[in-house]
Amino acid sequence: MAFSHRLRTWVLTIFLIFQSGYGWYLPGSYPHKYVVGDTLGVKVNSLTSIDTEIPFSYYSLPFCQPEDGVKDSAENLGELLMGDRIENSPYRFKMYTNESEIFLCHTGPLSGDQFNLLKKRIDECIRSI
Ligand SMILES: *[C@@H]1O[C@H](CO)[C@@H](O)[C@H](O)[C@H]1NC(C)=O
Repeated sequence: MAFSHRLRTWVLTIFLIFQSGYGWYLPGSYPHKYVVGDTLGVKVNSLTSIDTEIPFSYYSLPFCQPEDGVKDSAENLGELLMGDRIENSPYRFKMYTNESEIFLCHTGPLSGDQFNLLKKRIDECIRSI
């Protein structure tokens, strides 16, 4: 009886600990505090469509790529569980800082194949998840 009471108290205490604070987060996806000027990197995820349901790599389309190359960028279990294919991107932001005219990349004109693929993906209603 006493053991059962103690167990219930522990369960309640653990429940309250997890309920307090900011709620429930996937492992590794805890809130991060930024200060003014901190760099905020942007990751990209796979492209999917309700029509095809097959995920495509973000970089299967002719988007600007990071200068130092595309790398798998899932950093924690939460991202691995949620994302199909998380990769780095050339996009960078600075917290609470207005910036303009930032160089991203040079691109040549689309080839016929790139154009047709882009048009096909748009027709398939692809989106990034
Ligand atoms: C950024 O620019 C907008 C529009 O000009 C302005 O309202 C805002 O105060 C600026 N923010 C900072 C942090 O400079």
